[in-house]
Amino acid sequence: MNQPASPSCAAAAPQRFALIPAAGVGARMGAKIPKQYMTLAGKPMLHHALETFAAHPRIARTFVVVSAGDGWIDELLTPELAQRISVLRVGGATRQESVLNGLNEMRAAATVGDDDWVLVHDAARPGLNAELIDRLLDTLAEDAVGGLLALPVVDTLKRGDDAQRSQETVSRAGLWAAQTPQMFRYALLQRALGEAAAQGRIGAITDDASAIEMLGLQPRLVEGSPRNLKVTLAQDAALAEFFLKG
Ligand code: C5P
Repeated sequence: MNQPASPSCAAAAPQRFALIPAAGVGARMGAKIPKQYMTLAGKPMLHHALETFAAHPRIARTFVVVSAGDGWIDELLTPELAQRISVLRVGGATRQESVLNGLNEMRAAATVGDDDWVLVHDAARPGLNAELIDRLLDTLAEDAVGGLLALPVVDTLKRGDDAQRSQETVSRAGLWAAQTPQMFRYALLQRALGEAAAQGRIGAITDDASAIEMLGLQPRLVEGSPRNLKVTLAQDAALAEFFLKG
C-alpha cells in the first residue's frame, strides 16, 4: 500500500490528494435538499470545489465522501470530472467521521503513501480557488506537522449567556478563524482522527486540525481569504455568489 521504494531514486516526492466530506444534511440552511447540492452561481455548491481541485495540476486525485444513499452526486459528475474524482459512499454521523471513513477508504481506491498530503476541504466552501491551494501547498511543503487556511479574527468578541446578554469581552489576540483546506500527511491525520474516535472525542471536534492538536502537535496557520467563507445559513449564499461571480 505504501509508495513502492524506487531503487533508482531516494524518496519519491509526496503526492497531494483532496478529500471533500460532503455527507452533511445542512439542517441550518432549512432547505429541502442537502446544502452542498443547492444551486449557487448556476451550479450545485459542491461542483465549485470539485472543479477547482480537479483542474489543479498539483492535486493527484480528489475524493468526495457522500452518504450511502446520496442520490445527487452521480448527476453532478460530468465524464470529464469523473476522470479526476472518486466517489466514496462512506459518510458518517459527523464531519470528522466522514473524513476518517474517507481516509480509510481512499487507500482502496488509489495508491496513497503514509507521507502523502491530504487536503481536507468542506463542500460548503465553494469560494476556494487555485491561488489559495497554491499558498497552502507552498507554505507547508516542508512542514513537519501540516496546517490549514485560517483568518485572523478582527471583530471584538463577546461571550453571551442564554439570555443573549454579554458576560465579557474575550481578547482576540492570537485568535484565528479556521477555514479549509486543512492539509496533513495521510498517516498522521488517520492516526489523529482514529485516536479521537477511540477516545470517544471525535463527535466533539469540528475540524481536522483539532485532532492533530490532541496529539500535542501545532498545525501551521496559513492566511486564507474572506472569499473562502463557509455557507452555513441562507444569507451566506448571497455573499458566496458575490465572490464566485466577481
Ligand atoms: O455542517 P457543516 O457546514 O459544519 O459541514 C461541514 C462539511 O462537512 C460539509 O461539507 C458537510 O457536507 C460535511 N459533513 C459530512 N458528514 C457529516 C456532516 C457534515 O461529510 N455527517
